[in-house]
Amino acid sequence: MKNIKIAPSILSANFAKMGEEVRSLEQCGADLVHCDVMDGVFVNNITFGIKMVEDLRKITTLPLDCHLMIVHPEKYVERFAKAGADIITVHWEACQDNLKEVLMLIKSTGVKCGAVINPDTPVEKIKDVILLCDMVLVMSVFPGFGGQKFIPSALDKLREIRKIIDESGKEIDLQIDGGVTAENVAEIKAAGANVIVAGSAVFKAEDRAEMIQKLKE
Ligand code: DX5
Ligand code: ZN
Repeated sequence: MKNIKIAPSILSANFAKMGEEVRSLEQCGADLVHCDVMDGVFVNNITFGIKMVEDLRKITTLPLDCHLMIVHPEKYVERFAKAGADIITVHWEACQDNLKEVLMLIKSTGVKCGAVINPDTPVEKIKDVILLCDMVLVMSVFPGFGGQKFIPSALDKLREIRKIIDESGKEIDLQIDGGVTAENVAEIKAAGANVIVAGSAVFKAEDRAEMIQKLKE
C-alpha cells in the first residue's frame, strides 16, 4: 500500500488566525500544508501569496505545498521558492506550451515541481511532462473555491496517471484536490491518489485529528 499523505487546504482556515490554524494542523497529524494561491484572474477568487508562505515557513516544519492558481506563474516561482515553498504546482491551463519550461524553472530553484489539470483538461495534455514531475495534481473541482462537490471523472484520470507512474518505476506523487470527504476518499485512493487535499472536510470537522486519521487510513 502506498504511503498516503494528507494535505489540508488552508483556504478553509480562518485567515485572521492563520498561525494557530497551521499549528493545529501540525498537531492533528497533517503531512503537508496545501496553500491555495489565487490571483483573481486565473480563477474568480483572491487569497494570499508570497508573504503568507514566507511567514508560515517561520512557524511550521511541515512541507508547504503551493498550488498556484495564477496567470504567469513563471514570474513568481523564484520568489515562492525563496519564501520557503517545498512544492510548487502550476496549471497546464496557465502555462500551456510553456509547462515543461516552468516545471524546469521550479526544479532549478531546488523546490519540487508539479503539473495540475482542471476537470475539463484531458491527461493527454500533460503526458509529456508527467515523468518530469515530483507530483501530479488532478483537480476534482473547478478551482477557485472550497466546499464544492467532487467531480467523478477525476477518478479515471487518476487511474490513467497512476498507470503511467507505476510503469515508469519512478517515485512520483499523485494528488487529488477538491470535494474530498470521508465518504469518497476510499475510491479516490483506490484510483491511485496518494496525496489527498482536503479543505472543508478537515476545517469543518468537529475533531480535525480524527478526520485526518480517517482520510489517511
Ligand atoms: C480549490 C482549491 C482547493 C480547495 C479544496 O480551488 O484548489 O484546494 O481548497 O477545498 P475542499 O476540500 O473544500 O473542496
Ligand atoms: Zn488547491
